[in-house]
Formats: sequence, C-alpha cells, structure tokens
Amino acid sequence: MKTNLGGTGTLNAVVLQAMKTNPGGSLSPSEVVGRDALIKQLWRALEKQSVVLSAERRMGKTSIIKKMHAESAGKLTVYQDLEKVGTPREFVESIVESVEERLSTGKRVAEGFRSLLQNLHGAEVSGIKLPEVADREWKVLLVAIIKDLVAKPGGTVYFFWDELPLMLYKIQKNSGETVAMEILDTLRSLRQTYPLLRMVYTGSIGLHNVLTSLKRAGYANAPINDMKKIDVPALQLIDAENLALQLIMGENIQVADPQIIAKTIAQSVDGIAFYVQHVVDRLANWQGTIEAKTIKDIVSNYLCDAQDPLDMRYFQERIKTYYLREEVSLAYGLLDILSTETVAISFGNLANKLASRMAIHDLEAIRSMVELLQLDHYIQQNPEGNYAFRFPLIQRYWKLNRGLSH
Ligand SMILES: Nc1ncnc2c1ncn2[C@@H]1O[C@H](COP(=O)(O)OP(=O)(O)OP(=O)(O)O)[C@@H](O)[C@H]1O
Ligand SMILES: [Mg+2]
Repeated sequence: MKTNLGGTGTLNAVVLQAMKTNPGGSLSPSEVVGRDALIKQLWRALEKQSVVLSAERRMGKTSIIKKMHAESAGKLTVYQDLEKVGTPREFVESIVESVEERLSTGKRVAEGFRSLLQNLHGAEVSGIKLPEVADREWKVLLVAIIKDLVAKPGGTVYFFWDELPLMLYKIQKNSGETVAMEILDTLRSLRQTYPLLRMVYTGSIGLHNVLTSLKRAGYANAPINDMKKIDVPALQLIDAENLALQLIMGENIQVADPQIIAKTIAQSVDGIAFYVQHVVDRLANWQGTIEAKTIKDIVSNYLCDAQDPLDMRYFQERIKTYYLREEVSLAYGLLDILSTETVAISFGNLANKLASRMAIHDLEAIRSMVELLQLDHYIQQNPEGNYAFRFPLIQRYWKLNRGLSH
C-alpha cells in the first residue's frame, strides 16, 4: 500500500512506500530511492555520448543502471555484470549471451557474428560457449557482434557495463597490459564508427586505477576522452530521510516520531543509502525505546565493529591493492592527517604536516597523490582550494580505525 507522507499541500509531495531493508542486496527498480533526477540526467547525456559513471564504493551505481535498464521500455539496452569476466573471449561470450537473452530476435541479430565464427572455426558453433579460436580472434568477433546489433533497425543500442574496470584489471593481470589496452581501444573505435552505439562504464573500482597502470606500461591513448564523466553523489538528505522513513514503515518499527528518527539517520550517515539501510536493519532488531541517541550509538558501534558490516575496511584495502607499494605510505600519511582535522586545510599546510612525519623528496608526488585520493573519492577540494575528507563518516572511521582519536 502506498502512503502519502510527503506533506499535503506542498508542490513536491512524495509518495512513500513501505519497504523492507536490503543492505547490499539487489534492489528492484521501485526500491531505488531518490535517483530519478540523476537518471534523467544520464539519459540526457546518453542522447549525445557514452558515459563513465563513477562513485565511491556502495554509492548505488549498480542500482541506478539496473533501474535504467529495467525501465527502458522502447529502448534497446543490454546490462552486463562483468565481475567474473577475466579474458577477452569471456567478454565476447558474455555479450553474445546478453544479446541473445535480451532480444527475441537474438539469433538473427547475431547472424553475421555466427557465420564469421564458423569461418574462423571451420565448423558451426552452437550455444554460447565460444571455441578456442576466440582467444586469438576476439577483436574481430567483438566488432562483428556489435556491428550485427547496431545494424538492427530500432535506434540506439545502449550497453550498461557494470564492473568493466575490474574486468580490465583482471585481463591486465591474466593476459598483460597490451590486451587490456586493445579492449579499450576497440571499444572506443566502435563508438567512433557507430553513431547509434552508447556505452556506460561503471564499477566498484575507478577506471583511473586501471588506466594509471596501463599508462605506466606505455599506453598513450585516451580511451575515454569521448565519454562524459558523471559522478554519483550520496542521496540528497531529504531523499535519504525518505528512504529511512520507508524502511522504518516496511520493518514496522515502532518509534514516537518517525520523521525525527529518519532525519537523524540520514544526517548521521551523510545521506549514503547503503548505510541508511544498515542502520534501519539494526533498528529492526532493537530492544527498547528508539530515540535520536539510539541512532548515534548504532552508527558508532558499526564503525568499530570487528565484523565490519559497513565494509569500511575496503577504504584501506583498496589503497594496498590498487596503489603502487611506494605510494601506500604517502596515501595513508595524507589521510591520517586529514582525518584528524576539523576544517579543510590548504595544500601547503597538508604538505608541511606530512613533512613533519616522513621525509619528503618530491612535492609533485604529493600533488599527484592528492589528485588520486580525490579521484577515489576519499577527499575533496572546496572552492577556497582547501582539502578535507569527502564524507565525515568515512573520516570518523579512518581516525578511529587508525587509532588517531586522541
Ligand atoms: N537509491 C537507493 N535506494 C535505496 N537503497 C540504495 C540505493 N542505492 C544504494 N542502496 C543501498 O546500497 C546498496 C549498494 O548499492 P549498489 O550495489 O547499487 O552500489 P554500487 O555503487 O554498485 O556498489 P559497488 O561499488 O560495491 O559496486 C544496495 O544494496 C542498497 O542496500
Ligand atoms: Mg556495483
């Protein structure tokens, strides 16, 4: 049943729907709260060009593109989770699979692709598993399957590629930098060749994490400079509040003033939907009266919970996994300093504080690291040019977990 709690008589009345909590799970499109304006912005951008969708981990990228795919009536969209893909052959295979699944006319659409495959293989290939020849010939096959698809009358074809950076990272590890570069270049060239082809790249690691190491290996191309970069922010506080309210209703949690509790939840987790889900999840099992202080206690307990239900340890692990070994102490040093600051500080100030902790040989290395930490959404620069953690909650976690509280 739908309830209108959005303030009768206001122009922006919002229809709130009771929902069960689902922290980290797959959401149905109607459970994705507060993303309509961003989705509109994305479709508008896609009218003209392809998109790289980036955000901090767990910010809601997958939920957004799945919703776009699910609600794309009249448009030809393909959604693929590339998390498990580790070779170019598997990439082509997964495209074939999605295309055949998505389109009732899939087999006909892939006719050119199948006959090319037959020529290369010397025999007909049935099913989706590709023969070994695809290890060598993946590029012509990739071009053929996309060509088949865009040749179909019916307008623009949209590929939503979730975890594409992770796929490239794995391919780079398995097959080397050159192959990862070739994939990026082939996809770019397909976008240049076919004006009715659109791609959305997104994933839990940033594409720049992969591009940086490809550049180190000598890659000079700019494989995404034709794509629009769009950042997924946290929810607006009012949307995070509405999400909390819907979850409180859905879990049938008894509180004296749901609106106040919902507001407190939204504010104490910086509007991040994933954490809103977790806090209400814990409230659903709460014994005793629930008041604003209860929310603060729940958040504090989450931050120091050794089981790490909020997946916060990831913020440290990512640096160890994707940054160069010699960069790790620099990144940690900068974040340690910023985690204890109560206001944003200038680059000069930051560099001085760092110099009092470790030997600094190269100021440019610090500048590059500050840039990288911004790309990875740890920190941000304000209009005055000063730096601070992007999310106070993550700052709090960092300070606590690194033992810098005093
Ligand atoms: N708009 C939203 N409304 C309600 N809940 C949301 C919303 N966005 C995210 N969530 C919550 O956060 C969780 C993570 O969302 P999602 O998987 O879309 O994030 P992601 O950015 O793709 O994460 P990752 O970086 O790990 O791939 C969801 O399972 C859900 O609990
Ligand atoms: Mg995701």
